[in-house]
Amino acid sequence: MKILITGGAGFIGCHVVREFLQQFPSAQIYNLDKLTYAGNLENLRDVEHHPNYHFIKGDICDEVFINELFEEVRFDAVIHLAAESHVDRSITDPLAFAKTNILGTMVLLNAFKNSWKDNSEGKRFYHISTDEVYGTLGETGLFTETTSYAPNSPYSASKASSDHFVRAYGETYGLPVVISNCSNNYGQHQFPEKLIPLFINNIIENKPLPVYGDGNYTRDWLYVVDHAKAIALIFKEGKNKETYNIGGFNEWKNIDLVKELCQQMDEKLGRPKGTSEKLITFVKDRPGHDLRYAIDASKINKELGWKPSVTFEEGLSITIDWYLNNKDWLRNVTSGEYQNYYASTYKFRT
Ligand code: NAD
Ligand code: TYD
Repeated sequence: MKILITGGAGFIGCHVVREFLQQFPSAQIYNLDKLTYAGNLENLRDVEHHPNYHFIKGDICDEVFINELFEEVRFDAVIHLAAESHVDRSITDPLAFAKTNILGTMVLLNAFKNSWKDNSEGKRFYHISTDEVYGTLGETGLFTETTSYAPNSPYSASKASSDHFVRAYGETYGLPVVISNCSNNYGQHQFPEKLIPLFINNIIENKPLPVYGDGNYTRDWLYVVDHAKAIALIFKEGKNKETYNIGGFNEWKNIDLVKELCQQMDEKLGRPKGTSEKLITFVKDRPGHDLRYAIDASKINKELGWKPSVTFEEGLSITIDWYLNNKDWLRNVTSGEYQNYYASTYKFRT
């Protein structure tokens, strides 16, 4: 079996590549990645010489290249993660998100359709999406697989649109598609623009921790390896044309999460209790900021027997340890262009 994983050099993708090499030892795993600022081959150093692993540098929006690739390799399955993934960047550059997330997904769907024509028996196109497509919840309630889409950011709108195209290719062309929508991931190898790795990096460097608005926004957090395991399970046992919500059963208000992070960091860095909390700085809010995301993951739990394997406190501790032990990785990804991104994003918030 030949499995194409797109975006495999990114945060979640690198864990999916590792999980698939382990769980599908007779499959050939192809990682297609453009290596944008968020893609990093360092994330896959431990598997780069694996006999079943192949890296292809390329852009999912390049139709000619993608069609030729699919003609040449004839993938049996696609696990599609490649995307622009950061909400704040989508606010400053929405067109980049439409291009990669919508057009790129369509290019892949077309290539897959054309390469298998009417004979898609045993094939699968698995699209990795987010709970943000459902918009925001109030103080109560959970997103289920039947919650209406109501995206509020350019990022979530582009992901919602790509989900719709995946669904449409399933209905119109009979493509064997499956979608999962997951809550916020955290863990090793996450680019330090997202809340947890950004704040870990800032605590190490004694820099302010910019909490948006009043900090009373709620997210459901899942350890990235548990997401990768859920993806492997859905790939193996999920049903075509179905959607599966994946979540951590683990809601945190941002401010409470940041305090937990500060406490663990103080302990691990040997700093007096309360040191990191002093870095908390409330800054101007994100426009269109969704109040609360929370996933009802009972379908994947009941139908496929999946549940998270670690508590948040354990997962966070593993994550912090990884960043503390991989300061070179952190230094490399925060040099150069990152400095401009950081300066412009956080200048706007003062
Ligand atoms: P990421 O930004 O860390 O990685 C994205 C990867 O895609 C990078 O390696 C990048 O180089 C690659 N890429 C971007 N544009 C490309 C293009 N045009 N062609 C080929 N490769 C390209 O993202 P992530 O956090 O790992 O998210 C992966 C997927 O999971 C995304 O589709 C995202 O929407 C979804 N998701 C993420 C989360 C989360 O909390 N991070 C939660 C739910 C769903
Ligand atoms: P983020 O990690 O960007 O994920 P998402 O927006 O996809 O949920 O942000 C998580 C939460 O943390 C979100 O409510 C925004 C907030 N946040 C801050 O308060 N400060 C920051 O610097 C960042 C990046 C996020």
